[in-house]
Amino acid sequence: MAISSKYYLRRIMSRFIIKGKRELYGTVKISPAKNAVLPIITASLLAKTPCLLEEVPDLADVRTISSAIEILGARVEREGGGLKISVPQMVSNEAPYEFVRKMRASFLIMGPLLARTGRARISTPGGCAIGSRPIDLHLKGFCLLGAQIKQGQGFIEACADKLVGSRIYLDYPSVGATENIIMAASLAKGMSIIENAAEEPEVVDLANFLNAMGARIKGAGTKVIRVEGVQELYGASYSVIPDRIEAGTFLVAAAMAGGNVLVDNVICEHINPILAKLRESGVRVEEGEGYVRVYGGGEIKPTDIKTMPYPGFPTDMQPQFMAMMTLAAGTSVITETVFENRFMHVNELKRMGARIKVSGRTTIIQGSERLSGAKVKATDLRAGAALVLAGLAAEGITEVGNVSHIDRGYENLVEKLRGLGAEITRKDD
Ligand code: UD1
Repeated sequence: MAISSKYYLRRIMSRFIIKGKRELYGTVKISPAKNAVLPIITASLLAKTPCLLEEVPDLADVRTISSAIEILGARVEREGGGLKISVPQMVSNEAPYEFVRKMRASFLIMGPLLARTGRARISTPGGCAIGSRPIDLHLKGFCLLGAQIKQGQGFIEACADKLVGSRIYLDYPSVGATENIIMAASLAKGMSIIENAAEEPEVVDLANFLNAMGARIKGAGTKVIRVEGVQELYGASYSVIPDRIEAGTFLVAAAMAGGNVLVDNVICEHINPILAKLRESGVRVEEGEGYVRVYGGGEIKPTDIKTMPYPGFPTDMQPQFMAMMTLAAGTSVITETVFENRFMHVNELKRMGARIKVSGRTTIIQGSERLSGAKVKATDLRAGAALVLAGLAAEGITEVGNVSHIDRGYENLVEKLRGLGAEITRKDD
């Protein structure tokens, strides 16, 4: 599954051309969650026998993490829509920079690699440029499990003959740190207790996958997670949860563009905060068994939003809601508390006529009646999604550049939107 540099070159040069003001109608099926799949792929490193992930989205991030674990000795094969992952033998302890620089989630290799082999060396992470995104809490966890940490120029190394269960308090409920520590603790000797853990559905999905492999994890989805270490873990077949952020993105798309869209393959409970804020914004949404129907095109009411760890409003939906609030009948305030530099879409939205002021971690969005198509650039994954949504609702043509960011996390976005009647095409230069 090696990534060819040609693939990346092609993606870097791609752009989306959107002719706005087309209403959306029909059904869109949501893919499995990127943020659940990535840690689940790295967790497969812990299994002695092959794992089968039943459906895995074809995303740039999935290719990157797959290639990174292949370097370590894993074999990753596409089987239908899923992935078969086997690790006949670990051949390396090092996740090289060429992968880690592309995606911060590569750091999720460290926990399983350390637990399986006693040594893990990882380049310092890259990924979306949405803040400094430190990894101190991951390292604190490994340290408390008995690992020795060495930090050098551009790399971090953790070593332990045997990890030992411990009590770990996270100063912030970091998703990645919770996941990395759960994975490492699964093969540690004795009981680990993670306090102030992240409660995100993707953490629960990872714990369910590990439990299917033979791990003993309780409390995932609450603030306290208990992991009783086991000696060995074995392969499992697993079906990953749907992507709540992709679902939210399509809901906002229909709310902004107008029309009537059924967003299928959704766990409604996971998108409660998104549905709540859509309703507050005056958008009509109806929840069904595994789906949500949205009726778009009505007046959008100004709505204040503050991003928080789950079950708060997700930071990964902040840019898309900001795009929607540019068309609201009044002024909204959006406060970003999770990442310190997540307003890079603001200047691009302004190019389309949006009226937004930034003050520290707060933005004030003065809604207007229309956006105008313009040439804009995706600066990170969700910022890119927000620009696509703005383009769907804008008058005229919008050209979104740098869509390699969007390819990291949205499977077949152009095809799915076209299936709903949007006029969007991809141009590979
Ligand atoms: C994950 C998601 C990302 C989402 C984010 C918050 C994946 C692959 N990515 O990222 O899409 O936006 O959760 O929901 O699942 N922090 C520290 N020290 C640490 C770790 C994190 O201070 O050791 C801080 C970060 O700088 C940030 C905050 O904690 O301000 C949240 O980060 P975290 O929850 O770790 O996000 P990720 O796991 O990186």
